[in-house]
Amino acid sequence: MRLKFMGQSLEVRESGAGRTLVLVHGYPLDGAVWSSLSRRLSDRFRVLKPDLPGRIDNPADPASSMASYADFIEKVVESADSPVGLAGFSMGGYVCFELMKRRPSSVHALALVDTRANADDETGRANRQAAIATVRAEGVGPIAEAMLPKLLSPDGMKRAELVERVRRIILRQSPQTIESDLAAMRDRPDSTDFLAHLAIPTLVVVGEHDTISSPAESRAMSQKIPGARFLEIAGAGHLTPLEKPAAVAQALGDFFSDALPR
Ligand code: MLT
Repeated sequence: MRLKFMGQSLEVRESGAGRTLVLVHGYPLDGAVWSSLSRRLSDRFRVLKPDLPGRIDNPADPASSMASYADFIEKVVESADSPVGLAGFSMGGYVCFELMKRRPSSVHALALVDTRANADDETGRANRQAAIATVRAEGVGPIAEAMLPKLLSPDGMKRAELVERVRRIILRQSPQTIESDLAAMRDRPDSTDFLAHLAIPTLVVVGEHDTISSPAESRAMSQKIPGARFLEIAGAGHLTPLEKPAAVAQALGDFFSDALPR
């Protein structure tokens, strides 16, 4: 799908046909984290996996705020021109919270994948600042090496091909984009009070070994969302869409099949 955003004409990767899903990636990644999943879902859905601003498919300026990332996803959702099932992975979930606060009428169901509603605390903000200093001084390499064991479970870290695939995705991001993501996450608002106002069908998914958004935290988040379903993916770390794509595709496919109007 082609669309115009901030004066740029850009392509949003799309596959399949049917009801529309928009999948929002996390940090320090791009839309490719959804590739294994979109292959599995595109026999039932039209799957859009946009790159947030500052990535290869999206040269728009990454404006360092969750609200500006939400502006872009809002544009994608509006341009889809149909009822949308929206899924956000980790930072992508933070973007979805900002978008959902605007009550977009075309989003009919929401999947929150390995994400959390709270803002960073003081230590979290200091860690973002330290990572910004690292990427400015040393580039993306150290960020990739620090993130890999946080993204993947210990078993996932033993799968050399998977590790290499995730490393490649991280290393193709520019230092400016990494810095923009870090600043946007550092300054993101707390969305905990908003959870009770989520008035559409919602699924919360988390990897059993996720250490960034833990299963306990995710379950507690799902309990604050009226009627939300909760699912833990056995054996996965944080990056469930790449580590256990079959299980996540099954969960999202079944959920959106039920929840989206035909
Ligand atoms: C992500 O996976 O998008 C980030 O690691 C989330 C975070 O650091 O808060």
